[in-house]
Amino acid sequence: MIKGFEIKEKDEKYVWHPFTQVKTDLPPIPITYADGSSIYDSSGKKYIDCNSSWWVNVHGHGHPHIAQAIFRQFQEIDHVIFAGVTHPKAVELAERIVHILPDNKFHKVFFSDNGSTAVEVALKMVLQYWYNKGITKNRLVAIEGAYHGDTFGAMSMGQRGYFNRPFENFFFDTDFISFPDKNNASIALKEAVQLFEKGDVAGLILEPLVQGSSGMRMYSKDWLNDLMSAAKENNVLIVFDEVMTGWGRTGKMFAMDYLLHAPDIVCLSKGLTGGTLPLGLTVTHNEVFEAFIDDDKTKALLHGHSYTGNALACAAACASLDLFEKKETLNNIKRITQLHSQYLSMFENHALVREVRHLGTILAIELKDENPTANYFSSLREKALSFFLDNGMMLRPLGNVVFLNPPYVISDEELQHCYKTIIDFLNKALKTQN
Ligand SMILES: Cc1ncc(COP(=O)(O)O)c(C=O)c1O
Repeated sequence: MIKGFEIKEKDEKYVWHPFTQVKTDLPPIPITYADGSSIYDSSGKKYIDCNSSWWVNVHGHGHPHIAQAIFRQFQEIDHVIFAGVTHPKAVELAERIVHILPDNKFHKVFFSDNGSTAVEVALKMVLQYWYNKGITKNRLVAIEGAYHGDTFGAMSMGQRGYFNRPFENFFFDTDFISFPDKNNASIALKEAVQLFEKGDVAGLILEPLVQGSSGMRMYSKDWLNDLMSAAKENNVLIVFDEVMTGWGRTGKMFAMDYLLHAPDIVCLSKGLTGGTLPLGLTVTHNEVFEAFIDDDKTKALLHGHSYTGNALACAAACASLDLFEKKETLNNIKRITQLHSQYLSMFENHALVREVRHLGTILAIELKDENPTANYFSSLREKALSFFLDNGMMLRPLGNVVFLNPPYVISDEELQHCYKTIIDFLNKALKTQN
């Protein structure tokens, strides 16, 4: 086992990290232990995992129930090809997913590896649904600021910008409607209706109620209800990317639980396995599924990955669902939601804060940046990140947006430490600005 200083040295020598500019970013912190709401570095320093390690560890780290489920599964089947073969845990998971989603709206579950692949599968389902029916509909609509992943289809449906500029010429053409903030909601809806009425829109994909990576930007459920009605009237398939909003993040199990209609397709990942193993699901209803059934074999969804339906990941996901059936988990989601709302005003009244956004266990604080063209690489972000690390918090801001979406096992004391540390940072940043 590699120890202490060796980790840093060998990491620098051999590893290429995601979203990292080696020349300017802080070197990676060697984490050697994780438990509950926290992770620990090789010197024993504790960091509260404020964003659930990229929003996945909903039940906290090292949960014994998930650990046992993975171990037991390993003794039975670790992994098996999923074409022409099935296994009990995949079937159990599919049945439970169909039943945890709104009543009788979803019937079939397609397995893949992560959030991006769940989105790729959804896009293929949408486009091939119309193709198989012999109907020409080949436009796709998304919302400005969207993030659906880093594979090419997902990037094509996402906000264009500095994250994906080198690849832009290779993206397919997507129609973007405006982000429906308070001042823009009716314009955004009009833009969508105009596109839908052209008759060639195959599908609409969106992050329901909260756009995650663009800074936990929230929008109203009434607007989304109206948008969905317009999509349905115009025969546009609706895809919800609940990769981030699923699993209690918004206060309900799924963002769609706030809405009047269900989408046609939903993408799930992140908290699906409680943050233990990668897994993505794309779930739809029988009408979509049936469009792929034919004597012609090429009308099947000819898509798959080596790890599709991985049995260990399915076992972890089933164990995570067991935990969601426990009152304790639901009470924790309520407790975090309430504590966030109690502390809102503390941030709202601060001179450095532009806006505070809150839904369920997500609390986002958008800071005023002295640089009007500041983006994800805002200098405030770098300062905030270092300050939080010094104060025992693993919190990676999204540009000038500081946010909390912690594991549900976080204690009140730990949350209060996070609120206080954020305020301390704001006060310090304000002082240096004045
Ligand atoms: C809404 C949404 N969709 C898709 C993805 C991509 O998921 P993954 O990173 O697992 O590929 C993310 C990741 O942050 C996301 O927030």
